[in-house]
Amino acid sequence: MPHQTGSDNLDFLDGYLFRTMVQILNSEGADPAGFYNYYKARVEQVGTALSPYDRMLVDYVDAKFDRQNRRIVHGGTGLGTLPCALAFSGYTVAGVEQDMARLRTAGRVHGALAEAWPAAAERYVLIGGEFPTVLADTPWMTPETVLIFTNCVATWSEDLAARLMASLSTCGDVILDVRLFGQSRDTPEERQMLIGQFEAQGLVALPIAESTPGAFYYHLQPRQIIP
Ligand SMILES: C[S@@+](CC[C@H](N)C(=O)[O-])C[C@H]1O[C@@H](n2cnc3c(N)ncnc32)[C@H](O)[C@@H]1O
Repeated sequence: MPHQTGSDNLDFLDGYLFRTMVQILNSEGADPAGFYNYYKARVEQVGTALSPYDRMLVDYVDAKFDRQNRRIVHGGTGLGTLPCALAFSGYTVAGVEQDMARLRTAGRVHGALAEAWPAAAERYVLIGGEFPTVLADTPWMTPETVLIFTNCVATWSEDLAARLMASLSTCGDVILDVRLFGQSRDTPEERQMLIGQFEAQGLVALPIAESTPGAFYYHLQPRQIIP
């Protein structure tokens, strides 16, 4: 069966993943299951599994990257809703998560995907550990990879932040929200400073017009491969 493309086809998947998340939240509790406030609010206040930027990114990736030659890495994947949606749409994808409680629940979400859509689940591998350390010297860190970060605010040491920054040049394309990368950057000046750091390491950063409200997604590429 051909895979379905575009975020319009994600409604059934979204409802199914949402139901899975509700069951896990109710049976285990928010903190033991790694929902914490973030996914607790997604379930109780938003009422969907997929976020608006998950859907926006599925459409963006669908428009820009072919499924045969490109693969996706989602750094800081949380419960892995984006990789589920991308795998459902036919992409080969890895989700990387360092929080062990969250990783375990992401594994259960992956398991639920496998029950309903086994072929999609086979395209999605969940990897526990810290990005980029856990993917260093693996085939995931190559120019064929599209590296994505969504809402990736965490306590990164200076050393980790520097290694993370250096890892961006290894991938052919990087997509991230400059407001929520490592730390929150709520002013245009802070965001411009981060974009300047990308440019200083030879990356071209172009804003993504389809960014969801309140987000500032950029598409980064090594300068030399832009025609
Ligand atoms: C706020 S949550 C958001 C999850 C998901 N990105 C989303 O947008 O729904 C950020 C996640 O990134 C993870 N994370 C942050 N830095 C990471 C790193 N260097 N390696 C792996 N996971 C990381 C955190 O553990 C956390 O689960």
